[in-house]
Amino acid sequence: MSKCKMIGRNLMVGLLVATATLSNAAATTAVCQGKCRFLPGDAGWPSDGKWDALNKTVGGRLIRGVPIGQPCYGSSPNASACSEVQRIWTDQDPFITDPVNVVSFYHESDSCSPFYGPLSANAETRHLNCSQGRVASYAINVGDAAAAIAGVKFARENNIRLLVKNTGHDIPGRSSGQGALALWTHNIKSSTIFNYKSKTYTGPAARIGAGLQVLELFDVAAAHGYRVTAGSCPTVGAGGGWVQGGGHGPLSAAYGLGADTTLEFEVVTTDGKHLTASRARNKDLFWALSGGGAGNYAVVLSVTLKVFPDGPVAGSRLTFTEPDPEKYFTALEAWQKHLLYVNTVPGFQASTTLLPGGVFSLNYATLLDGTESDITTHLTPFYRELDALGITPTVNETKAHPTFVEHYRYFEAGTVYTRNVTVGNRLIPRSLIADDARLPSLTRVYKDILANPNSVAFVLASNVSHARVGNAPGDNPVMSAWRDSLFLSNFGVFSDGQATAAELEAALATVNGWQTKFREVTPEGGSYMNEATHNFEFWKTDYYGEWYDELLKVKRKYDPGFVLWNQPGAGHDAWQIKEDGRLCKVR
Ligand SMILES: Cc1cc2nc3c(=O)[nH]c(=O)nc-3n(C[C@H](O)[C@H](O)[C@H](O)COP(=O)(O)OP(=O)(O)OC[C@H]3O[C@@H](n4cnc5c(N)ncnc54)[C@H](O)[C@@H]3O)c2cc1C
Ligand SMILES: *[C@@H]1O[C@H](CO)[C@@H](O)[C@H](O)[C@H]1NC(C)=O
Ligand SMILES: *[C@@H]1O[C@H](CO)[C@@H](O)[C@H](O)[C@H]1NC(C)=O
Ligand SMILES: *[C@@H]1O[C@H](CO)[C@@H](O)[C@H](O)[C@H]1NC(C)=O
Ligand SMILES: *[C@@H]1O[C@H](CO)[C@@H](O)[C@H](O)[C@H]1NC(C)=O
Ligand SMILES: *[C@@H]1O[C@H](CO)[C@@H](O)[C@H](O)[C@H]1NC(C)=O
Ligand SMILES: *[C@@H]1O[C@H](CO)[C@@H](O)[C@H](O)[C@H]1NC(C)=O
Repeated sequence: MSKCKMIGRNLMVGLLVATATLSNAAATTAVCQGKCRFLPGDAGWPSDGKWDALNKTVGGRLIRGVPIGQPCYGSSPNASACSEVQRIWTDQDPFITDPVNVVSFYHESDSCSPFYGPLSANAETRHLNCSQGRVASYAINVGDAAAAIAGVKFARENNIRLLVKNTGHDIPGRSSGQGALALWTHNIKSSTIFNYKSKTYTGPAARIGAGLQVLELFDVAAAHGYRVTAGSCPTVGAGGGWVQGGGHGPLSAAYGLGADTTLEFEVVTTDGKHLTASRARNKDLFWALSGGGAGNYAVVLSVTLKVFPDGPVAGSRLTFTEPDPEKYFTALEAWQKHLLYVNTVPGFQASTTLLPGGVFSLNYATLLDGTESDITTHLTPFYRELDALGITPTVNETKAHPTFVEHYRYFEAGTVYTRNVTVGNRLIPRSLIADDARLPSLTRVYKDILANPNSVAFVLASNVSHARVGNAPGDNPVMSAWRDSLFLSNFGVFSDGQATAAELEAALATVNGWQTKFREVTPEGGSYMNEATHNFEFWKTDYYGEWYDELLKVKRKYDPGFVLWNQPGAGHDAWQIKEDGRLCKVR
């Protein structure tokens, strides 16, 4: 009541000094009725006293969210700190370890770009203020369940947005949001390897804190003589969004996606309960968290994953540049057809990068429990095709290692991940590549994409069919297109480090256009939600497929008030981001 009176009075003042539009008034009314979340500056936004009280509750672990570009702004911007921010602006690491800033170039946007502050030479593009944009306003450095409970309670009672930020790798941008309180899980790094016992699985497992990253997980498992499925990128959050959205990586072809290996989640629900979700307890929540979309059902504190006995791993890589498009795309088709064979070899996976100008790079193929000669044998039919086309690789190397993590470190070394790229993807069904009459339609899409000089595409092949992985349809809500896919096609467009919001909007439109083109040639396919755009027209069918309705039920059961909200989370369309960044109920 009093909150709404306060807003009413503020609005009146606003009307006198400026021109408050009708939509402002409507937004204010909506906030009063609990239909919109408060934003900083609203009279209903928690007072400093309330934030201080929250800070006491969480033992001083509350952090004010500061955009990384901040040193370039203010009444006395710091020139040397600003040039340092400019230097690191396209690097991922500073954004990964930050409590609120995110890797996604699109979602971080230019609202506090280090290139447009008061020190910048170009008056036309100069911004005087660093605005918070989509960067969360506050974060709690979560160390235990009590801090997460305090966070969800505070967000609920004060009608503000809540989200979980782990590494900030998220491509659809689900770890950022205007006016949000972020639960920052990055520092929950615990891990234990133990023997898990249940009706459905008894064997070795890793219980890992939500903040554990891919390489950290590989190392923990290796130290105990195990290997475990996790992502290709060493810094992705293995205990966070990676597993909740599916999770592919170099061992998927043997053990499946991350979501195929889950045993248990320790969570805090948005009503403040500290629960275990497994096949025995809170089954529906366990099911949804195993691939049904990140950051939407509960706050995860730890996850328990199956691990597997380690052993020798063979690897191979190959790079060529073929400027003649005819030959290049023939070679690309030959590689895709060769995948029809290698994907039937247990434990074989391959990750390939395609760049404009005829660059083809098999970053590495992985063959578990195989020798150098085995992997060479599997690749030889493709080598012959390259020979026949007169293509000579500039890199062609095969090497075996005694354990998986040694293989991984060797072949991953030197990979540089930059932020200035907008990404989308499509799962490519085996049936399309097997059909010579259909393959040219796919090649035309690749030709289109690679004609853009700032494009990149990836062909990530691993067989995650139910037969291979050892589970059945519906065991988890991973998009079923994964099971028949020969490979995941990722693609992106790079932007200049100084890209403006409008340019980033255009890049996003380009990538959505590519997702549509791939969709047209793969009507039976789908997309991998964790690496797709947040606003694709066909998100519901193409990111969730047949599991959508069931996931929505779980969402409504565990978070009926949509305390957690993200796009394209299941049910997110009941809410909408308005032009001013305000999150409001649609109906
Ligand atoms: C460079 C790069 C490489 C990638 N490589 C791979 C890859 O090899 N394989 C692959 O499958 N994917 C990959 N991805 C995609 C990756 O899986 C997603 O970005 C994923 O969402 C990352 O999860 P995160 O926790 O690290 O990131 P964040 O952005 O911090 O979080 C992502 C989502 O998970 C939610 N979340 C995180 N932690 C929790 C928690 N504890 N409880 C509840 N919700 C949580 C967040 O709210 C958000 O919705 C890559 C992405 C990038 C940018
Ligand atoms: C929370 O408290 C700690 C320790 O008392 C302090 O260092 C920190 O700045 C406070 N956070 C905020 C947002 O005020
Ligand atoms: C400016 O930033 C640098 C770090 O880049 C710091 O060492 C210095 O103290 C800052 N100067 C002021 C006046 O804050
Ligand atoms: C910058 O912010 C200040 C204080 O919030 C405000 O008074 C001023 O109008 C803003 N300037 C611009 C150009 O947006
Ligand atoms: C996966 O491998 C099996 C044989 O192990 C094969 O029958 C199946 O077609 C493969 N699936 C895909 C999608 O490649
Ligand atoms: C790559 O090297 C192997 C030997 O390790 C060789 O047999 C093969 O022909 C080479 N491939 C190509 C395409 O040159
Ligand atoms: C993206 O950033 C990298 C690293 O700063 C830079 O080399 C590259 O040119 C940028 N891409 C574009 C298209 O500007």
